[in-house]
Amino acid sequence: MVIGKPLFTIEQIQNRVKELADRISRDYAGKEILAIGILKGAFIFFSDIVRTIKVPLTVDFIVASSYLKTETTGDVKIHYDIREDISDKDVLLIEDIVDSGFTLNFIRDMILSRKPKSLKICVFLDKKERRKVDVPLDYVGYEIPDVFVVGYGLDYENKFRNLPYIAIFKKSVD
Ligand code: IMP
Ligand code: MG
Repeated sequence: MVIGKPLFTIEQIQNRVKELADRISRDYAGKEILAIGILKGAFIFFSDIVRTIKVPLTVDFIVASSYLKTETTGDVKIHYDIREDISDKDVLLIEDIVDSGFTLNFIRDMILSRKPKSLKICVFLDKKERRKVDVPLDYVGYEIPDVFVVGYGLDYENKFRNLPYIAIFKKSVD
């Protein structure tokens, strides 16, 4: 297993997070956001972006999984769900990465069925070419090619989440 070269450095990540947060702050001016982080992967991106957004905000989390090693299963499991009534909330879902789209699509449908006042989606990385189901994304950090990445919250078998930058991951040297 090898950690390849950085795809995004700490500095690039910080700058992009700030740009996204500024856009979100402008779009939600005069409103209050319910920011829902999708764990575990989004925990670092979530904590960076909520600290940079300038409008009033509350936080909650959904814990979901759908991934086995480096392949998505399409079978999304919810291990922890939010409990509050969201019918009067402007919900912003925050996710680390979209791949097939199964996870976000499932969670989006689940949130929409609870009729929030509004729902937008913010993801840091978008592997667009891997998409199997369409999900509307409102804020995207970076589009990336079909590579497996770790760091900045993203894992391989639950490891490497604490790497402070985003790196390409290879199971073997080729
Ligand atoms: P999807 O359901 O296929 O869109 O997969 C999304 C989930 O898979 C994300 O929430 C991530 O946790 C995980 N994932 C997708 N691609 C990667 C990757 O390159 N590295 C680490 N985790 C990934
Ligand atoms: Mg995730």
